Amino acid sequence: MLAKLDQLYAESLGKLEAAGETAVLETWYKNTLGTKGNIQLMTRQFGKIPREERPAFGQRINTVKSELEAAYQQKLHLLKTAEMNAAIASSAIDVTLPGRQQPQGGLHVITQTLRHIYRIFGDMGFQIYRTGDVETDLYNFELLNFPPHHPAREMQDSFYTTDPDVILRTHTSAGQIRAMQEYHPEPVRVILPGMCYRNEQITTRSSIQFTQVEGLAVGTNITFSDLKGTLTEFARRLFGADRETRFRASYFPFTEPSAEMDVTCFLCDGKGCQVCKQTGWLEILGSGMVHPTVLRNGGYDPDVYTGFAFGMGPERIAMLKYGINDIRQFWNNDLRFLKQF
Ligand code: PHE
Repeated sequence: MLAKLDQLYAESLGKLEAAGETAVLETWYKNTLGTKGNIQLMTRQFGKIPREERPAFGQRINTVKSELEAAYQQKLHLLKTAEMNAAIASSAIDVTLPGRQQPQGGLHVITQTLRHIYRIFGDMGFQIYRTGDVETDLYNFELLNFPPHHPAREMQDSFYTTDPDVILRTHTSAGQIRAMQEYHPEPVRVILPGMCYRNEQITTRSSIQFTQVEGLAVGTNITFSDLKGTLTEFARRLFGADRETRFRASYFPFTEPSAEMDVTCFLCDGKGCQVCKQTGWLEILGSGMVHPTVLRNGGYDPDVYTGFAFGMGPERIAMLKYGINDIRQFWNNDLRFLKQF
């Protein structure tokens, strides 16, 4: 019987050694030291052995039990530590791996240009006034003093809808009358940004849609020198202090007198090059004193009120500033182009 016990002991110890994971260990414990385990079954044989052998057998079985128990505890601790280490190792973060880069968005170059323009006029007390992209012939042309057969009203210039009186605005000047009609008889100082549409041949220099920023100031004491001062200061802030400006007489139906403002060429600094067609100057906006008829159409008495207006194209400004030679780039959505700004 003792020999059988020793054999069982040796076998059990061998199996314990071989166990590679805690789940196997649990089964081993149940089959060995559990209430129905092999050692327990051996204890029940106690009555069958000769009386004189019983003390030795009893002692031996107790030693076997406690040794197996100790061996089990030790193995359990070993396996648990190993399993935990394996789990930690497999879920660990490798801090030496390069990070995954988040794709980053940015503001469109025209949005940046617009915001720059807003900031400058905002500092001068101009508020942003928005009107619709869809306009009527009345606001886009008639109330702005366009003669009935002015070429700009022709089919090839405007995008018409099925209703011949409803068009896409061809310039932001259409909003001038709306602003005046809302503000009169109070003074006005607004800029009107927005997308404009013209049914033109698409080339590197002209597009069928583009943004404009209109400006309008109306009051009882506004002169041409206010116009010049405002726009000169604007150009200084937008392009830098060493850019010179000049005003040239021009014509628009809704302003009288009218003027275009030029700045010295960005590329040649006024010496003359291909971009400025050897003149040294680049035209950047149209402007003028609001025509008396237009003031009247907006609700202001031209004997009491005067005003100035101006209009510029942010695409053109960005093209000149950054040396972009094709206006179509702005709306092609080529990220290689857009990411440069
Ligand atoms: N609306 C004119 C254009 O589109 C620009 C302009 C605005 C001129 C206001 C004078 C005054 O060319």
